[in-house]
Amino acid sequence: MKPIGPMMWEHRLIEKMLRVFEGEIRKINDSNKLDTVFIDTVVDFIRTYADRTHHGKEEDILFRDLAKKELSAEHIRIMNELIGEHEYSRETVRKLIEAKERYLKGENTAPEVIAYLKELARFYPLHIQKEDKHFFYPVMEYFKKEEQDEMLAEFYEFDRNMIHEKYRKVVDQIEAQSK
Ligand SMILES: [Fe+2]
Ligand SMILES: [Fe+2]
Repeated sequence: MKPIGPMMWEHRLIEKMLRVFEGEIRKINDSNKLDTVFIDTVVDFIRTYADRTHHGKEEDILFRDLAKKELSAEHIRIMNELIGEHEYSRETVRKLIEAKERYLKGENTAPEVIAYLKELARFYPLHIQKEDKHFFYPVMEYFKKEEQDEMLAEFYEFDRNMIHEKYRKVVDQIEAQSK
Protein backbone atom coordinates (compact mmCIF):
# COMPACT_ATOMS: atom_id res chain seq x y z
CA MET A 1 0.00 0.00 0.00
CA LYS A 2 1.10 3.54 -0.72
CA PRO A 3 1.45 5.89 2.27
CA ILE A 4 -1.31 8.09 0.86
CA GLY A 5 -3.82 5.22 1.47
CA PRO A 6 -4.29 5.90 5.21
CA MET A 7 -4.25 9.66 4.56
CA MET A 8 -7.22 9.31 2.25
CA TRP A 9 -9.15 7.13 4.72
CA GLU A 10 -8.58 9.83 7.32
CA HIS A 11 -10.04 12.37 4.89
CA ARG A 12 -13.23 10.30 4.71
CA LEU A 13 -13.68 10.43 8.51
CA ILE A 14 -13.03 14.18 8.59
CA GLU A 15 -15.66 14.69 5.85
CA LYS A 16 -18.13 12.60 7.84
CA MET A 17 -17.62 14.84 10.88
CA LEU A 18 -18.02 17.99 8.78
CA ARG A 19 -21.36 16.70 7.46
CA VAL A 20 -22.67 16.53 11.05
CA PHE A 21 -22.13 20.30 11.33
CA GLU A 22 -25.12 21.03 9.08
CA GLY A 23 -27.72 19.63 11.51
CA GLU A 24 -25.99 21.23 14.46
CA ILE A 25 -25.93 24.65 12.75
CA ARG A 26 -29.70 24.32 12.18
CA LYS A 27 -30.23 23.52 15.88
CA ILE A 28 -28.18 26.53 17.01
CA ASN A 29 -30.07 28.73 14.52
CA ASP A 30 -33.47 27.59 15.81
CA SER A 31 -32.68 27.75 19.53
CA ASN A 32 -30.01 30.48 19.59
CA LYS A 33 -28.31 28.21 22.14
CA LEU A 34 -25.04 26.31 21.99
CA ASP A 35 -24.54 22.69 22.86
CA THR A 36 -21.11 23.26 24.37
CA VAL A 37 -20.47 19.50 24.66
CA PHE A 38 -20.91 19.28 20.87
CA ILE A 39 -18.48 22.17 20.37
CA ASP A 40 -15.94 20.55 22.75
CA THR A 41 -16.25 17.26 20.84
CA VAL A 42 -15.73 19.02 17.49
CA VAL A 43 -12.74 20.94 18.83
CA ASP A 44 -11.17 17.78 20.23
CA PHE A 45 -11.76 15.92 16.95
CA ILE A 46 -10.23 18.68 14.86
CA ARG A 47 -7.31 19.34 17.17
CA THR A 48 -6.40 15.76 18.02
CA TYR A 49 -7.43 13.89 14.89
CA ALA A 50 -7.52 16.31 11.95
CA ASP A 51 -4.68 18.55 13.06
CA ARG A 52 -2.28 16.68 15.33
CA THR A 53 -2.69 13.18 13.84
CA HIS A 54 -3.57 13.89 10.20
CA HIS A 55 -1.84 17.21 9.45
CA GLY A 56 0.97 15.95 11.68
CA LYS A 57 1.71 13.09 9.28
CA GLU A 58 1.39 15.41 6.28
CA GLU A 59 3.65 18.14 7.61
CA ASP A 60 6.12 16.24 9.79
CA ILE A 61 6.65 13.28 7.44
CA LEU A 62 5.28 13.68 3.88
CA PHE A 63 6.05 17.38 3.39
CA ARG A 64 9.36 17.05 5.26
CA ASP A 65 10.48 14.33 2.82
CA LEU A 66 9.12 16.19 -0.20
CA ALA A 67 11.15 19.24 0.80
CA LYS A 68 14.29 17.13 0.20
CA LYS A 69 13.25 16.39 -3.41
CA GLU A 70 13.51 18.48 -6.56
CA LEU A 71 9.85 19.43 -6.74
CA SER A 72 8.17 21.06 -9.72
CA ALA A 73 7.13 24.70 -9.27
CA GLU A 74 3.51 23.55 -9.30
CA HIS A 75 4.04 21.08 -6.45
CA ILE A 76 5.97 23.62 -4.37
CA ARG A 77 3.10 26.05 -4.84
CA ILE A 78 0.44 23.52 -3.82
CA MET A 79 2.46 22.33 -0.80
CA ASN A 80 2.79 25.91 0.45
CA GLU A 81 -0.94 26.47 -0.05
CA LEU A 82 -1.70 23.30 1.93
CA ILE A 83 0.53 24.44 4.81
CA GLY A 84 -1.23 27.82 4.80
CA GLU A 85 -4.62 26.09 4.84
CA HIS A 86 -3.62 23.96 7.85
CA GLU A 87 -2.70 27.18 9.64
CA TYR A 88 -6.03 28.73 8.62
CA SER A 89 -7.95 25.76 10.07
CA ARG A 90 -6.01 26.11 13.37
CA GLU A 91 -6.85 29.80 13.47
CA THR A 92 -10.56 29.13 12.79
CA VAL A 93 -10.66 26.53 15.58
CA ARG A 94 -8.96 29.00 17.96
CA LYS A 95 -11.70 31.53 17.18
CA LEU A 96 -14.39 28.85 17.67
CA ILE A 97 -13.01 27.97 21.12
CA GLU A 98 -12.76 31.61 22.05
CA ALA A 99 -16.40 32.24 21.00
CA LYS A 100 -17.53 29.22 23.04
CA GLU A 101 -15.64 30.55 26.11
CA ARG A 102 -17.39 33.91 25.79
CA TYR A 103 -20.75 32.11 25.47
CA LEU A 104 -20.07 30.34 28.77
CA LYS A 105 -19.49 33.74 30.35
CA GLY A 106 -22.95 34.89 29.24
CA GLU A 107 -22.32 36.56 25.88
CA ASN A 108 -24.55 35.49 22.97
CA THR A 109 -21.93 34.22 20.58
CA ALA A 110 -24.20 31.68 18.81
CA PRO A 111 -24.03 33.58 15.46
CA GLU A 112 -20.20 33.64 15.62
CA VAL A 113 -20.07 29.93 16.40
CA ILE A 114 -22.36 29.23 13.43
CA ALA A 115 -20.08 31.30 11.20
CA TYR A 116 -16.95 29.34 12.27
CA LEU A 117 -18.67 25.95 11.88
CA LYS A 118 -19.92 26.99 8.44
CA GLU A 119 -16.47 28.18 7.46
CA LEU A 120 -14.84 24.89 8.50
CA ALA A 121 -17.53 22.88 6.65
CA ARG A 122 -17.03 25.03 3.53
CA PHE A 123 -13.29 25.30 3.39
CA TYR A 124 -12.04 21.96 4.64
CA PRO A 125 -13.60 19.75 1.89
CA LEU A 126 -11.84 21.98 -0.68
CA HIS A 127 -8.53 21.39 1.13
CA ILE A 128 -9.15 17.63 1.08
CA GLN A 129 -10.07 17.74 -2.60
CA LYS A 130 -6.85 19.58 -3.42
CA GLU A 131 -4.81 16.87 -1.69
CA ASP A 132 -6.80 13.89 -3.02
CA LYS A 133 -7.13 15.08 -6.61
CA HIS A 134 -4.09 17.25 -7.27
CA PHE A 135 -1.31 16.38 -4.86
CA PHE A 136 -1.10 12.99 -3.18
CA TYR A 137 -0.88 10.78 -6.28
CA PRO A 138 1.51 12.89 -8.35
CA VAL A 139 3.92 13.54 -5.46
CA MET A 140 4.28 9.80 -4.80
CA GLU A 141 6.28 9.75 -8.05
CA TYR A 142 9.16 11.50 -6.26
CA PHE A 143 9.64 8.46 -4.00
CA LYS A 144 11.07 5.03 -4.77
CA LYS A 145 9.11 1.99 -3.62
CA GLU A 146 11.40 1.54 -0.57
CA GLU A 147 11.00 5.19 0.39
CA GLN A 148 7.20 4.81 0.20
CA ASP A 149 7.36 1.69 2.41
CA GLU A 150 9.50 3.54 4.95
CA MET A 151 7.07 6.45 4.93
CA LEU A 152 4.12 4.17 5.56
CA ALA A 153 5.97 2.57 8.49
CA GLU A 154 6.74 6.03 9.87
CA PHE A 155 3.06 6.98 9.55
CA TYR A 156 2.09 3.92 11.63
CA GLU A 157 4.69 4.77 14.25
CA PHE A 158 3.43 8.35 14.37
CA ASP A 159 -0.15 7.10 14.88
CA ARG A 160 0.96 4.62 17.55
CA ASN A 161 2.32 7.49 19.63
CA MET A 162 -0.78 9.65 19.28
CA ILE A 163 -2.99 7.90 21.83
CA HIS A 164 -0.25 8.25 24.46
CA GLU A 165 0.36 11.90 23.63
CA LYS A 166 -3.39 12.61 23.75
CA TYR A 167 -3.92 11.10 27.19
CA ARG A 168 -0.73 12.56 28.63
CA LYS A 169 -2.22 15.94 27.70
CA VAL A 170 -5.59 15.02 29.25
CA VAL A 171 -3.93 14.08 32.56
CA ASP A 172 -1.67 17.17 32.56
CA GLN A 173 -4.69 19.39 31.97
CA ILE A 174 -6.89 17.79 34.59
CA GLU A 175 -3.99 17.83 37.07
CA ALA A 176 -3.46 21.56 36.46
CA GLN A 177 -7.17 22.26 36.94
CA SER A 178 -7.36 20.31 40.21
CA LYS A 179 -4.62 22.38 41.90
FE1 LIG B 1 -3.85 18.74 4.70
FE1 LIG C 1 -5.14 15.87 4.44
